[in-house]
Amino acid sequence: MDNNQDYILGINQTELERLEFQHKVWKKMTDDFLDRTGIQKDWKCLDAGAGPGFVSADLRNRVGASGEVTALEPSKMYLDHFRNYCRSKNWKNIRFIYGNVEDSHLEKDHYDFIFLRWVIDFVSEPENFLLKLMQSLKKGGIIGIQDYAYEGIALFPKGGAFDGITGIVRNYYGAGGGDIYFTTKIPSVFRKNNIELLEFSPVSKAGGNESDVFEWAYRFFKIHLPIMAGKNIISRNECDELLKDLNDHRNNPDMIFFSPLIVNIAGKKL
Ligand SMILES: C[S@@+](CC[C@H](N)C(=O)[O-])C[C@H]1O[C@@H](n2cnc3c(N)ncnc32)[C@H](O)[C@@H]1O
Repeated sequence: MDNNQDYILGINQTELERLEFQHKVWKKMTDDFLDRTGIQKDWKCLDAGAGPGFVSADLRNRVGASGEVTALEPSKMYLDHFRNYCRSKNWKNIRFIYGNVEDSHLEKDHYDFIFLRWVIDFVSEPENFLLKLMQSLKKGGIIGIQDYAYEGIALFPKGGAFDGITGIVRNYYGAGGGDIYFTTKIPSVFRKNNIELLEFSPVSKAGGNESDVFEWAYRFFKIHLPIMAGKNIISRNECDELLKDLNDHRNNPDMIFFSPLIVNIAGKKL
């Protein structure tokens, strides 16, 4: 039984494989960000909304056997995937919290580093969600967030149905209570809560019809546009037009795709 039935993207094997591919496409962005946080060998880290644990594993590789990594995840299927991976590695210093951030018990002033990637924009009360995480951060500890400020996504040449994609994704996230622009409010949440903003930097990738970044977007929309139609966020006709636009570009060697902006945000608890 999964603990997050309201989660808009759903929990299943196809989505797990999509997340795995997504991790590969964006791994350098996350690795570079983690490098800048200065994670030390013995740090205690929390990966909140860890999914199948791809970044949790990267964190374990950074903190080594003397540190500690906690993977918090409300999907049993994803958490079990990471549990099995840890077993295969014989890692002993991993903790697992099966639940969402809002309802889980988190030790106060415990973590040196809290990380969340592609989670905060889905959450319906993101400010409270962050407050809870910040309480479990040690003084001097760092919170690192990677998520969208969902602007800039584009398929060139323009002129097809995909030109309206930002509003459609906003409605999709919104249907689950999320906000594709919540990252833009995080500096203000930090300011109110004694967190020093260390970094707020946007990242985008662009590529042609055979690039990994276009393939990443293509897989997302191929799976999720029909789901959006099933939820009446778009009509069947709009779904068909959007898929046609994507497929036309996929067959066009002269196309260019831009990803939406992803923002790297780091803050230090004072
Ligand atoms: C798009 S996935 C990203 C997974 C992982 N962070 C990554 O970057 O590969 C979003 C994850 O957030 C989890 N999630 C959704 N709402 C959550 C909440 N309220 N508390 C904790 N995790 C949540 C979902 O179960 C899902 O695994």
